[in-house]
Amino acid sequence: MSEEWSDEAMEQAVTMPEVPADRELFIRIRALHKRFGPRHILRGIDLDVYRGETVTILGLSGSGKSTLMKHLTGSLRLDEGHIQVGPYDLADMNRRTWDAYRRDMGVVFQHAALLGSLTVEDNVGLPLLEVERLSRSEVRPRVIEALHRVFLPAEEILHLSPSDLSGGMQKRVGLARAIIREPALLLYDEPTTGLDPVTVSGVNELTLELQGRLGVTSLVITHDLDAAFTIADRIAMLYKGRIIACAPPDEIRQSQHPVLQQLLSGSTTGPLTEAFTT
Ligand SMILES: Nc1ncnc2c1ncn2[C@@H]1O[C@H](COP(=O)(O)OP(=O)(O)OP(=O)(O)O)[C@@H](O)[C@H]1O
Ligand SMILES: [Mg+2]
Repeated sequence: MSEEWSDEAMEQAVTMPEVPADRELFIRIRALHKRFGPRHILRGIDLDVYRGETVTILGLSGSGKSTLMKHLTGSLRLDEGHIQVGPYDLADMNRRTWDAYRRDMGVVFQHAALLGSLTVEDNVGLPLLEVERLSRSEVRPRVIEALHRVFLPAEEILHLSPSDLSGGMQKRVGLARAIIREPALLLYDEPTTGLDPVTVSGVNELTLELQGRLGVTSLVITHDLDAAFTIADRIAMLYKGRIIACAPPDEIRQSQHPVLQQLLSGSTTGPLTEAFTT
């Protein structure tokens, strides 16, 4: 490692740039901290996502990516910091505003998070049945379409319980549920982990298509570097509880930052693994 990178320099959070005049800020996270007991997991996250943009978040396992995402979905309470998503200030929400906020987003959880008591059809159709209050006959064709978009044989699996599907199929059912309402914001926590390469490409294309056709804003956590570089307008790197880089793929690729260099090379020696090897 080159000497100019002191620990302090390496852990330095990036300062979020001014919002360009032609962009609209959609998600603004500032000084977000999260502690679980004595463990200080998020140590001052600053991140901006512009409307219509796809940002991917990279970081080692256990670095706090899902913890960050859970703040955005509201499944973790905001202890310290500020999160604004569109008109919603997540520190200042009541039940009604949470409901309204959640209606505007689609979430793909790291683990499928399907309801075991419902069929595949009802799991995927739930946002339409509950939020839009459509009838079953109206919902069914949209469920079938959503399942086809994630390459699932809809007609064969509509009536099955999620537990009758393989892990990768469950994941795709979760994806279908997230996209069925074509929401303004999609939050994906490892949408392609455990899927075959063909389906991975399909999911990447779907993200790009939703962005291109509907202007969907997406925040995607992934360990899949190919996917990150394919779909992202900007890539953010989470390290030691902070966002230490946030830039377009080309800049990330060319970065001399030792943490990024190690992540991109997959090397087992470097700052990411120092704690385990020294
Ligand atoms: N509810 C919780 N209670 C206590 N500790 C937690 C809780 N949720 C997460 N943590 C801790 O926070 C850290 C970050 O976890 P998180 O799930 O956010 O990591 P991650 O970056 O998503 O990892 P992976 O890539 O493996 O999914 C871990 O050390 C985890 O043990
Ligand atoms: Mg995670």
